[in-house]
Amino acid sequence: MYKSLEATLHDTFWRSEIDADESPLLENFLTQHPGPSLEVGCGSGRLLLPLLEKGYQIEGVELSSDMLGLLLKDASAKNLEPTVHHCPIEEFQTDKRFSSISIPAFTLQLLSRTSAQQVLKRLREIALTNGGLYITLFIPWAEILDELEIDTWHLDKETKLSSGQQARCFTRHQIDRLYQELYREHRYEVAEQKHLSTQTLQWYFMPELISTLESCGWKFQDFDSDFQIGNHDPDASVLTVYATAS
Ligand SMILES: C[S@@+](CC[C@H](N)C(=O)[O-])C[C@H]1O[C@@H](n2cnc3c(N)ncnc32)[C@H](O)[C@@H]1O
Repeated sequence: MYKSLEATLHDTFWRSEIDADESPLLENFLTQHPGPSLEVGCGSGRLLLPLLEKGYQIEGVELSSDMLGLLLKDASAKNLEPTVHHCPIEEFQTDKRFSSISIPAFTLQLLSRTSAQQVLKRLREIALTNGGLYITLFIPWAEILDELEIDTWHLDKETKLSSGQQARCFTRHQIDRLYQELYREHRYEVAEQKHLSTQTLQWYFMPELISTLESCGWKFQDFDSDFQIGNHDPDASVLTVYATAS
């Protein structure tokens, strides 16, 4: 997961999405919870490094060596020395206590429900009392509503690279609506270079999310929808959920 072209194209594809910048939400959240902060699945540092540059005390946990390599390269170009832990969040050990913990960009959905619960409990243990939790998740409406044909490749993302080459991601999926699980294959292409990856994603609706948070020691506070502060659209595709360590 998150190797090769999937890693190198990750930030480019995020940047090419319209109205999909969650950095203002994350920065707002960190401002409300000053002190040491942890980003789960920090990837290439797309969100983390600009926050570090602004003086926030944020460190990361990341599983993929390719993503981490990109982060370290960018950090060195920016003269930054980030603290990044190279391990799955399920195995992350620390004696440190955090004022805030973030899981942006749908990363929690890559974990099974059982694993997500264990991680949320563990994150509660390493959070300071009243520390904040920030999670961004999406609801795959197009797949749920059959707007995308099952088991059929479609062009999911396309953008022009600074080299002038076209980068594309083709996706096909299967869905289990009863268990709220989406299985996706991604085929990344830049010229002759190709990379295949698979992901199994869970999706959550509000009642389950709130009860899961509460069963893991977090008190749900609020949410923003579709990356807009103060937006509470009941038909949202993207939910950013805020909780505090109770
Ligand atoms: C969608 S990317 C988001 C990266 C970064 N947060 C961002 O917004 O640019 C998800 C990241 O989570 C990492 N990841 C996935 N599962 C993980 C796990 N169990 N532990 C740590 N990192 C994980 C992936 O390698 C990937 O870099």
